[in-house]
Amino acid sequence: MSNRSSRREFIKYAGALVAGVATGAAATYYGLRNYIPPAQTITQTLTESITQTVTETVTEIPSCTASLRAAAENRGLLIGSETAPAELSNSRYANTLAREFNYLTPGVDMKWIRVHPSENEWYFASADRIVKFASDHQMKMKGHCLIWHYPSELPSYLTYAMPAEEVRKAIENHITTLVGRYRGKIHAWDVVNEAVDDNEGLRKSFFLNKLGEGYIGEAFHVAHEADSNALLIYNDYGAEGLCDKSDRVYSLVKKLIGDGVPIDEVGLQMHLSAWNYPKPEDVAANVRRLAQLGLKVNISEMDVEIKKVPGELPERLEAQRRVYHDVIAACLKERNFTDITFWGFTDAYSWIDKFYGPDDPLLFDEEYQPKPAYWGVLDALLDK
Ligand code: XIL
Repeated sequence: MSNRSSRREFIKYAGALVAGVATGAAATYYGLRNYIPPAQTITQTLTESITQTVTETVTEIPSCTASLRAAAENRGLLIGSETAPAELSNSRYANTLAREFNYLTPGVDMKWIRVHPSENEWYFASADRIVKFASDHQMKMKGHCLIWHYPSELPSYLTYAMPAEEVRKAIENHITTLVGRYRGKIHAWDVVNEAVDDNEGLRKSFFLNKLGEGYIGEAFHVAHEADSNALLIYNDYGAEGLCDKSDRVYSLVKKLIGDGVPIDEVGLQMHLSAWNYPKPEDVAANVRRLAQLGLKVNISEMDVEIKKVPGELPERLEAQRRVYHDVIAACLKERNFTDITFWGFTDAYSWIDKFYGPDDPLLFDEEYQPKPAYWGVLDALLDK
């Protein structure tokens, strides 16, 4: 064995040990049942090191247990996180994001008022920054979101007394400019977000009140004109399992398909709580019935609240791990299920804290240490 190859073998061996010890330490930190994956990580990484040395393979093949990203790529899956430019400046955040994920979604920076605050004013700097980060790290992008009812995210030039025909034109201009700017750089767009009501029919939003239900199909047509290669998604919350709301989403997308609307995919937001969440088998059945319409399905914004779970922190984190694992494992069995995006990845930055009070809903703690939830997702990706 030459000096070079023995040095390489040593480096790999040392690297594997460090990775193994770090992983083990993270599991010990939580003192939970997840001692098994770290041990397997060490064994598998060492085995691969040895195999690589014997066959003198020059290309370094990452172990599929090394990160969520490696495990997902090993099965041809996109795995993503919501993000924001301010956070990308934090190197611990940025390094973890690039290591663990291959898909990025802006939390707010492509929403109407952020990118297009008045009729002739566009602000692309923040969205550009995220798109560049994705491209620098060989990640794909999901655009979020073209049409969303949320009043504080809609500019007043649009919502204040504009006649219906002009609103229609404004939508066309907004979608054509935004989708057109990023044509070829966005893998998929959330075209219409949360258009179904929680109790009956469609949401009585600004768009529905002004334009009638046709606005949904029109938005998809305009997006398709602007980038015929991007996958086009209908995205919603509370429609993950089998329930009245998911029936309404199913009816909506079925009708859109019947009307010849170019829709490719449904996003299940998956903002869950560990004390009350849909049965994994119901989520799978929902994914399956959408497959029968020819639609792909993704998990678009997953997080799992734990604040109301009874017990000490380790028990609550274990409940959270189980939800992440069981729901994702159920979805991964369905052939039309294509990707998972988490609404952030570190508890240091979560919208849940701001909207619903302090919680720890994500995969990494505030110090960027993997939580049991992380091992639950990794296990699901490894079919464990
Ligand atoms: C949230 C963002 O994360 C917050 O920063 C923002 O202030 C409000 O919106 N469903 C969606 C997302 O589709 O766009 C929402 O994102 C979370 C719920």
